[in-house]
Amino acid sequence: MQQMAVILDCPDETSLRALGARLAQMLRAGDAIALQGGLGAGKTTFARGLIEAYAGIGEVPSPTYTLVQTYDSGPLPVWHYDLYRLEDAADLTELGWDETADGIVLVEWPERAGTRLPKWRLDVTIDFQGEGRRVTLEPHGEGWQTRLHGF
Ligand SMILES: Nc1ncnc2c1ncn2[C@@H]1O[C@H](COP(=O)(O)OP(=O)(O)OP(=O)(O)O)[C@@H](O)[C@H]1O
Ligand SMILES: [Mg+2]
Repeated sequence: MQQMAVILDCPDETSLRALGARLAQMLRAGDAIALQGGLGAGKTTFARGLIEAYAGIGEVPSPTYTLVQTYDSGPLPVWHYDLYRLEDAADLTELGWDETADGIVLVEWPERAGTRLPKWRLDVTIDFQGEGRRVTLEPHGEGWQTRLHGF
């Protein structure tokens, strides 16, 4: 099946958070969302909107230094990674990377995971557009393709 990308305008932080909240309604066990985009693009902003809606957590810190934050107050556990400071993909093991199958994974700087990044995932790419952002949702695998239908 052809994998169709969805492109959305998010002119401000509120609309980007709202997009995260909208995706929170669709999550299933084992989902991985790769948050692509440069420094300050809005990856954490999107993750905050999603985690707030899914796990009811208002204060979502950036995992810049801890590399991972977990949230257990939603229907499934959420693992929020920021791999910017990851030195070696082998270090993912001690960050719980192989224990997330029954949960939801959000990853900032996903390319640092190398070949350990799940193949079946949703890529959320955030680009700067004027004062706002342009967001591309690109499904990899039928599970996401079906859910994005009519998004
Ligand atoms: N849609 C938007 N339009 C304009 N500004 C936005 C938008 N979304 C987020 N911002 C602002 O851009 C910045 C994004 O910061 P954020 O920490 O979310 O980026 P990040 O991609 O996680 O960065 P890092 O690479 O450091 O992890 C914040 O100052 C936020 O207020
Ligand atoms: Mg961030």
